[in-house]
Amino acid sequence: MAKDVKKPLRTGWDDVILVCAKCERKLKGGFGPSGKKDLSKALSRALDDSGARIGVVETLCLDVCPRGGVTAILASRPGQFSVIPAETPIDDILADLGLDLSHTG
Ligand code: FES
Repeated sequence: MAKDVKKPLRTGWDDVILVCAKCERKLKGGFGPSGKKDLSKALSRALDDSGARIGVVETLCLDVCPRGGVTAILASRPGQFSVIPAETPIDDILADLGLDLSHTG
């Protein structure tokens, strides 16, 4: 007998940024005002502060494996990975991912 399919769980998000956790582990920080945060944590903080309804989810390796950066992709733009070098300002990261948050917050 097949198991019941669970009810969908609502995220409250309009989009999702997938961030490679293995890249983050190799880089050991490099983002945020102090330069010590992982990309996913720095992005989550910035997106929360802006009021944007965009989730950040860490993933397994995305098979890009850059040196000195972290691979990320915006779920609504699946045709393009972004490789984010360490110490890139958050606004530049969001622009590279194709996000404009000027209308939020
Ligand atoms: S280690 Fe991050 S893309 Fe492979």
